[in-house]
Amino acid sequence: MSNAIPAQVQAYRASLLHFHADPAFSEQAHAWHEDGLLLVEDGKVRAAGDFAALAPTLPPGTPVADYRGKLIMPGFIDTHLHFPQTDMIASPAPGLLPWLESYTFPTERQFGDPVHAREVAEFFLDELLRCGTTTAMVYCTVHRESVDAFFEASSKRNLRMAAGKILMDRHCPDFLCDTAEGGIRDSEELINKWHNKGRNLYAITPRFAPTSTEAQLRMAGELATAYPDTFIQTHVSENPDECAWVKSLFPGARSYLDVYDSFGLMRERAMYGHCIWLDDRDFARMAESGAAAAVCPTSNFFLGSGLFDFEKADAARVALSLATDVGGGTSFSMLQTMNEAYKVARLKGSYLPAVRMFYLATLGAARSMQLEGTIGNFAPGAEADFIVLDPQSTPLLARRTGRCDSLEELLFALALLGDDRAVKATYAAGNKVHERPS
Ligand code: GUN
Ligand code: ZN
Repeated sequence: MSNAIPAQVQAYRASLLHFHADPAFSEQAHAWHEDGLLLVEDGKVRAAGDFAALAPTLPPGTPVADYRGKLIMPGFIDTHLHFPQTDMIASPAPGLLPWLESYTFPTERQFGDPVHAREVAEFFLDELLRCGTTTAMVYCTVHRESVDAFFEASSKRNLRMAAGKILMDRHCPDFLCDTAEGGIRDSEELINKWHNKGRNLYAITPRFAPTSTEAQLRMAGELATAYPDTFIQTHVSENPDECAWVKSLFPGARSYLDVYDSFGLMRERAMYGHCIWLDDRDFARMAESGAAAAVCPTSNFFLGSGLFDFEKADAARVALSLATDVGGGTSFSMLQTMNEAYKVARLKGSYLPAVRMFYLATLGAARSMQLEGTIGNFAPGAEADFIVLDPQSTPLLARRTGRCDSLEELLFALALLGDDRAVKATYAAGNKVHERPS
């Protein structure tokens, strides 16, 4: 008989919600356990189900964290945001291009200083965790130091994060300009240093087509082919002035998206931010290639960029997720991001049920990143990244959720009225990484 001490099981009692399919295309997409139990072992999900069914399976004396009255679900996944833009969130400018010139580039200049980069990375990750976001796809700056600072801070908290050094070798201030070869060499070194080290994942990150030469885009595509399990992230078709600029810079391309396609940058694990001004062929190509769209509603409202077309994207079966795009976005909260996504859909004449929005912010994002089974739901063996949402966290939320007749109404109230205050606690790989003081 083995003398091995049985691994410690952590147990959490609450209402449980998670997804195993997209509610837009499946009637039975979610699992809901009103009185549920989540079991975690060695930082992974062991089981999620009804309390009555699972409690008797626990070793006698196992403590059960009592979150009754609250809702446990997988941590949110934010598929597009910029950690160096934390300190310039809510900076006014008449549109994307002037905003980049007047605020973004001067702010990003400071990230050549590792001390500054570290301090901002620490704050940024704490803010994400306060908002219940446990995974994000993050842009650093052109400086290698900014990537090291980010992954060091992420490793300290044992978070599953994807990030990368911005590639930018033209149409930017000298102080932020790399070279085609230098940028790719740095990226490759950073891949070898950080990709799949602990829970860190590397994303090859050309900022957007206007700030990379053809040589740099080509080399980025070659790097992405050489390292097929890395991520790719960039911006596409965000703003009309930007689209016109791309047309003038790449006159031979069929579309803005086609620029990236022609350099081998469309594949699975490629995350395209915004995707507002895509046409039908672009959407079809996104779906065919396995590239995914990160929908950034607070940013697109703030910068006046436009409205994402959920109906067209769904018709083409493009992989979708929601993203804050901080600091173009105006909130770190994925609940607030859902609030604005809902309004985008309404302005386009369509409708986003709350259950779909919570899917997009969890399993939808995990699928977009080809990480289903690792994060995004409570499948046995998935990493135990989860949040505890409190439907009574503000007087108004308590009043409204006290009058909800369905799960859809409850989730809708949380999405429309909730923010960081609704996040009672955040767990990453089974460890508590945030608790809201009561
Ligand atoms: N396009 C190129 N760079 C950026 C950026 O930093 N933010 C946004 N929203 N769009 C971009
Ligand atoms: Zn962005």
